[in-house]
Amino acid sequence: MHVTSSYQIRTLPGAIFGVELIPNVRAQALVTQLEHDPKPALDAFYEAHGLMVFRDLNDINDDPSLLVRLSRLFGSEVENYHKTLTPERLIHSQVPEVIVISNLPPMSFPVPDLPDPPTMPDGKLPMQFPHRKGWHTDQSFRRPPPDISLFYAMQPSPKGQGQTLYADGTAAYSSLSREMQQTVAGLSAIHAIPWTGRGEDAVRAGEIPTPLEPHQASQAQPIVRIHPVTGQPALYLCEEGQLDWILGPVADMDTGPDGAGGRLIYKLMTHYTQPQFTYAHDWDAGDLVIHDNRNLLHSATWFDAEQHGRIMWRTTVSGNAGEEYAGERKSWLPPEGESLMGDLDYAN
Ligand SMILES: [Fe+2]
Repeated sequence: MHVTSSYQIRTLPGAIFGVELIPNVRAQALVTQLEHDPKPALDAFYEAHGLMVFRDLNDINDDPSLLVRLSRLFGSEVENYHKTLTPERLIHSQVPEVIVISNLPPMSFPVPDLPDPPTMPDGKLPMQFPHRKGWHTDQSFRRPPPDISLFYAMQPSPKGQGQTLYADGTAAYSSLSREMQQTVAGLSAIHAIPWTGRGEDAVRAGEIPTPLEPHQASQAQPIVRIHPVTGQPALYLCEEGQLDWILGPVADMDTGPDGAGGRLIYKLMTHYTQPQFTYAHDWDAGDLVIHDNRNLLHSATWFDAEQHGRIMWRTTVSGNAGEEYAGERKSWLPPEGESLMGDLDYAN
């Protein structure tokens, strides 16, 4: 527990990782205070393995620049979506650092299917892969990949629907057997832009993959990443739709859904998403969840999009991917001088 005059930080109920920040002041004053002295909040964030839930930030609805100011505390680059080939309809009309994730038009994001069966025998939400699909880390098809995402509930889905799930890759890695740690050391997975015919389901269905420009190509990422702030190793993975099941999913292993690489992904993902490593966030309006993409996974869940319009705002922070990526140019932008192209909806 950490207490200041502006906020208190406490452990996150329902998880072994993550913290909750409760403001005592309005969002504007909180952001100003955190800009003045970010260290206690950043220390708490990293000690808690990179998950922080802010409550009661509803004032962001009328001043989205507060979300951008908060984002800057977490890294040197806050993505300006006007400069990154992002479809215009997804970008906030006043603040280009904010992407709008919503089932409403014009964004029209699809809502994930319910798992089958939709609940556990005890009535709880299914969390563990492969019963639960959709686990990913944001934009892992980029090298370097982004560091941190900030996800704000402007207009959430009703309680008990549309929860966002998080899983702790630091704890999942440290609990692997020594033998499995040795197996995954030095291995890379091949990450792909979703919905381009390279996911497991698409490959099994025999879909023809969408042709890609060089800057959209799948990218290899280490399965174990060393966190550049904490120095701790963590599992870095995705599953079905954000891995390339044609070239991979694991580099230098048998390819395809039934190959040795696919079996390894299933084993690791099942381990990663065990109950002790996961947390389900049931959104209230004004909640902001900040998660570290370098060592956590997350997954969206179903809500009744016929009845409810959900509006979430996201910012993405980059600039400290770690030694693995030192000096690399951004794989996901075309070389200067070439025409900007591509309108693939890859906000994941
Ligand atoms: Fe995501």
